Amino acid sequence: MSMQTLEKETVAESVMELRVRHVKWEADGVHSLTFVDPEGKDLPAWTPGAHLEIELPSGLVRQYSLCGNPNDSCRYKVAVLRDSAGRGGSAEIHDTVLTGRMLKVRGPRNRFELAYAANYIFIAGGIGITPILAMVQELRERKPWHLFYGGRTLDSMAFREELATLGSKNVTLVPQDTEGVLDLDEVFSRVDESTAIYCCGPEGLLGAVLAKAEAVGVADQVHFERFGAAPKALVTEAEATPAGGFEVTLERTGTTLQVAPEETVLEAIRRVRSDMPSSCEEGFCGTCETRVLSGTIDHRDQILSKAERDANDSMFVCVSRATSAKIVLDL
Ligand code: FES
Repeated sequence: MSMQTLEKETVAESVMELRVRHVKWEADGVHSLTFVDPEGKDLPAWTPGAHLEIELPSGLVRQYSLCGNPNDSCRYKVAVLRDSAGRGGSAEIHDTVLTGRMLKVRGPRNRFELAYAANYIFIAGGIGITPILAMVQELRERKPWHLFYGGRTLDSMAFREELATLGSKNVTLVPQDTEGVLDLDEVFSRVDESTAIYCCGPEGLLGAVLAKAEAVGVADQVHFERFGAAPKALVTEAEATPAGGFEVTLERTGTTLQVAPEETVLEAIRRVRSDMPSSCEEGFCGTCETRVLSGTIDHRDQILSKAERDANDSMFVCVSRATSAKIVLDL
């Protein structure tokens, strides 16, 4: 998964209070929310693939991909699928009257950047269309691209009207009830060495795409974004963490902490930095990303690519640990 360089402070990110301007039905089970600044000010810029972190009225914090127009600085738009088996965030959004409410919003952040390539294949499953929609709108006529978009039924597939304006030759809709599942042989028959492959969707689709990419030797051309934690079997085996824990120095805070074997680095940090941000605490949202100044990391997140892990310059402190006896963090 692509990742931006850590140029900004990893903590104390500003929180915006934005108004929900309107809520719109987009497809079966999918509502979109449009946010504006209450005083009509311009909102911070974003690029396709970016997401917002939204604090719901109950206090739950959730991340949703931006799916509006990046050139429109007056509003942000996200779309939310009601997930009855989820952890409650999407149900709260669907069941609460949010129009006119002020909500706390952080971001935009982008861990799913559109990288340069000669041509692009996009694979979206269900609500995974949200970041992909902004990407294909950005590319439009500028580069060759094709989108394969699968969904449960046609009525459950959001943003078909917007996609129709981008040219039917570029978009293959695959409603499962009439067409079956996405044919990955067909998808990958369009891939060559200059293709960037972007995938967002449920875990089953993501796993199948990654397995196919591995089988045909293009795994390093795949960029993907997860909705949630990967199944345990897919999480990279952790390397050995030093027995008895390890030491973490927070360089800017001027503190050294001992991380116990049963404790996370995040928990240790919060003993002295209660403002340390987090959200999923399962290694997939990216909120707790922290720059590493020295020491080696036992990466247990589901975000970094192999090259990014090998660079050893950043870690997700909610899950990742140390393989050295001591690490130093830029906190
Ligand atoms: S809090 Fe989500 S990756 Fe750490």
